[in-house]
Amino acid sequence: PDLEKWVDQVPRPGVIEPTGTKNGQPYYEIGMREVEQKLHNDLPLTTVWGYDGQYPGPTIEAQQGEPIYVRWQNELPDDHLLPEDTTIHSDLIPYDTLGVRVVTHLHGGNVESESDGHAQAWFTRDFQETGPKFEKNDYYYVNDQPPTTLWYHDHSLGITRLNVYAGLAGFYLLRNEHEQELGLPEGEYEIPLVLQDRSFNDDGSLFYPTAVSDDQIRGDDPQPEPSIVPQFYGDTSIVNGKAWPRLPVEPRRYRLRLLNGANSRYYNLTLLEYDETSGETAADGPSFIQIGNDGGLLSEPVEITDRLELGSSQRADVVVDFSDYAGQTLLLHNNAPSLYRGTLERSEETKPLPEVMLIDVDDAGNVQDSSQVPNELTTVPKLPADTVDRHRKLWLSTRTDDYGRRLHLLGTQDQIRGYKLTDPVTENPMLGDTEIWSIANNTGMSHPIHIHLIHFQVLGRQSLADYDATAETIDTDTFQSPRPFELGWKDVVTVDPGEVVHVIAHFGEYKGLFNDQTGEYMWHCHMIEHEDHDMMRPLRVGTDSD
Ligand code: C2O
Ligand code: CU
Repeated sequence: PDLEKWVDQVPRPGVIEPTGTKNGQPYYEIGMREVEQKLHNDLPLTTVWGYDGQYPGPTIEAQQGEPIYVRWQNELPDDHLLPEDTTIHSDLIPYDTLGVRVVTHLHGGNVESESDGHAQAWFTRDFQETGPKFEKNDYYYVNDQPPTTLWYHDHSLGITRLNVYAGLAGFYLLRNEHEQELGLPEGEYEIPLVLQDRSFNDDGSLFYPTAVSDDQIRGDDPQPEPSIVPQFYGDTSIVNGKAWPRLPVEPRRYRLRLLNGANSRYYNLTLLEYDETSGETAADGPSFIQIGNDGGLLSEPVEITDRLELGSSQRADVVVDFSDYAGQTLLLHNNAPSLYRGTLERSEETKPLPEVMLIDVDDAGNVQDSSQVPNELTTVPKLPADTVDRHRKLWLSTRTDDYGRRLHLLGTQDQIRGYKLTDPVTENPMLGDTEIWSIANNTGMSHPIHIHLIHFQVLGRQSLADYDATAETIDTDTFQSPRPFELGWKDVVTVDPGEVVHVIAHFGEYKGLFNDQTGEYMWHCHMIEHEDHDMMRPLRVGTDSD
């Protein structure tokens, strides 16, 4: 359907209240349910899956130092809303089990492994069937890490792309007193915005492709029906669950918590002045003042003078000052092509989504704005790159699966072409260790690479041509610096084709930040079509006694 743009307002996800207490801490029961929701004024009701019956799910508000429990309840119907490709991990997934498999991961959470939402810790309705890594019904979130924008989403093996696409995602905002005393815009002037793309059938139902186009297949083997697709790019911009929406603001400062919640798509954002009658953009609008990243506040604010890049699951905490734009309409503009920085030119993969949402700045003259953006936000200690315990050399590679479909894998220096999820653990840091991970991209496109549990710092990048993976040491001085929006603590980093990105992480408590956790986690590409097929590997944090 050809939907008229800028009709609906951007909704704000509600905040969920605890159901009760458990061990003296707040306890939430959050049910995943199938519901019908109005995603656009002119669109018939769309069947979606929502946490607490809402898409996006309700926001969880948490305070540093105050742990919570969540029972994520599966109340979904017997059959999947979208077609499952039963060739994906067919050796690990009982596709004939009754009921939908789900498991919730708190993305960016420094949490115990039993509550991490491991892909194989899935469960069906009422916990009737559980996956091999399932350990407990009630997840425990210790909330010991620095305050930041987290989000929760489904992570079920082989169908994460479908479960998230159906709507299973929501915000989790972790705060602390220090942050609350900074004077940043708050209350109604702080808005979480999850950016996604979707496509629709004429009856309002969600469209998700079920076949790979011929030029993406090698050989002429018959294809599974339905088949996973190598990437997904929708034709409609969705913000907080509304298609092509507009956001009214006052001419003052706002804090926007931006999240790329799309399956595959990159966003490369700026604000432009916009003439709604002609549909033309004019001069630049206000810039983003970035104050926080995936893992918390930056040490000081950074003005993003060019574009703000967000790969799948990346967050940017920004302040925007609309005070010079009273009475104007602004466009949140994205210039990222679909196959981001791709060297493969395939026509059907060029599906840009330049228009994300409109912002209407109110005319009102006398706005009180007592908010501020202090020059010092927090302390971000620098992890020492010259005394690391281990330096891992990791590779992103492309192969072809049994059906001739493109398959992306994660590998090590010993096996550059990559391992499957089920191959023995290779990333096994010891608790208390600091490691450098050098991630080299041998594929034809950018991948947003995510590591569970920890937050890392980007040391820099270099071209693959200049990279000597056999060298004993690295010279950080020769690296291209992190991009302006990559400072501070990250949990997803973009690795472009033909380049190596070096990141540094500490596994365990560090200078009073984060928490000691050991056990089974995961790392993977966050383009969910890649994560499902088979760009995901175990991460095991151990101790000497293991
Ligand atoms: Cu947001 Cu393992 O994922
Ligand atoms: Cu990828």
